[in-house]
Amino acid sequence: MSSLEFAASLDAKDELGSFRDRFHRPKDCIYLCGHSLGLQPKSVRSYVEQELEDWENLGVEGHFHARNPWMPYHRLLSEKMARVVGARPDEVVMMNSLTVNLHLMMVSFYRPTRKRSKILIEKGAFPSDQYAVQSQIRFHGFQPEASLLEVSGSEILSAIEAEGNSIALVLPGGVNYATGEFYDLEAITQAGHDKGCVVGFDLAHAAGNVPLQLHKCGPDFAVWCTYKYLNSGPGSVGGCFVHERHARAWELSRFAGWWGHDEESRFQMEPEFHPMPGAEGWQLSNPSILSLAAVRASLDIFDEAGMERLRSKSEALTGYLESLFGARHEIVTPQRRGAQLSIRIPGGNRSICDQLAAQGVICDWREPDILRAAPVPLYNTFQDVFHFAERFCAIL
Ligand SMILES: Cc1ncc(COP(=O)(O)O)c(C=O)c1O
Repeated sequence: MSSLEFAASLDAKDELGSFRDRFHRPKDCIYLCGHSLGLQPKSVRSYVEQELEDWENLGVEGHFHARNPWMPYHRLLSEKMARVVGARPDEVVMMNSLTVNLHLMMVSFYRPTRKRSKILIEKGAFPSDQYAVQSQIRFHGFQPEASLLEVSGSEILSAIEAEGNSIALVLPGGVNYATGEFYDLEAITQAGHDKGCVVGFDLAHAAGNVPLQLHKCGPDFAVWCTYKYLNSGPGSVGGCFVHERHARAWELSRFAGWWGHDEESRFQMEPEFHPMPGAEGWQLSNPSILSLAAVRASLDIFDEAGMERLRSKSEALTGYLESLFGARHEIVTPQRRGAQLSIRIPGGNRSICDQLAAQGVICDWREPDILRAAPVPLYNTFQDVFHFAERFCAIL
């Protein structure tokens, strides 16, 4: 297995192999950083240019007369985005960015009371999530010391069982950003709902990475970004899921903006807010069309490749990397995972990534001692994995 020929033979059998050429790759490099910023699909340029041209030629008329009119442009993405996360199209909307959507969802779905004020997140959640939940807890007049419950991934279910009656909102990630662990969303949702908690997920590292069945699993909401595994460009527009059961929950408090208003009467400019049914009712502003165009280009590729095929190649890539390492390195990522492997290097530091970069391998470092590498099934090969393992082991 540890020969380049073997890796090449796996690539030769890879039915998704041709997708690699649909992406721009930084020159002469093995890119293993799709967990941070996905590569650019070559098709993005023409999708964005089409909107630039329509803007150039039509000005404001583009809202209704562009080749893909901008008014309903976000809807061109709903079906394909919904397929990637296992939702119904009206449960999904592309808007804002991840942390903004996290806050908007908490406005509606975090309604603490004296008896039930806690938010449960996973220990070591991404800092933005920690800041967002702390600020929401304070905003409602509670204190994070008492109302923020942080537990390790393996303790989420038991913590819900033990403390569920005081938890208002269960809000872990789907895949932990540092360890790459893929949580059991269905079990967490079920456990949370059984205890009367609201359940949401931050799917930044899960969307486009692991198979998701949001509608069936039934969380109340989920949010994600599109610049990692969804390859839609730095800071690109985020995604949001609101379960169908809340589609017409007009009584839920929400922060409102005109783009969430019923589209039939939106341009009558009346003072009273009537939200659209479904996830679209949480929109605030008219979205960035240039950004949505990039997401659209990417989702078209996902639709062609299919999450099922991507998942099986992803498992094969990480499995191959793990077997090349053997017992030589401490992989902290469990078997239930996405495309990322996190390797603990006690006493190591960021310079390991610098040395890898000098040898043409891009991966990243998370303090205090974790190197993250993600072989992404759309554009990485088994030979990438082989070269990475060889260079990594030589450096260590
Ligand atoms: C798990 C997770 N949550 C939240 C964020 C913050 O995302 P944004 O800057 O798009 O709000 C990130 C960014 O990488 C992330 O990985």
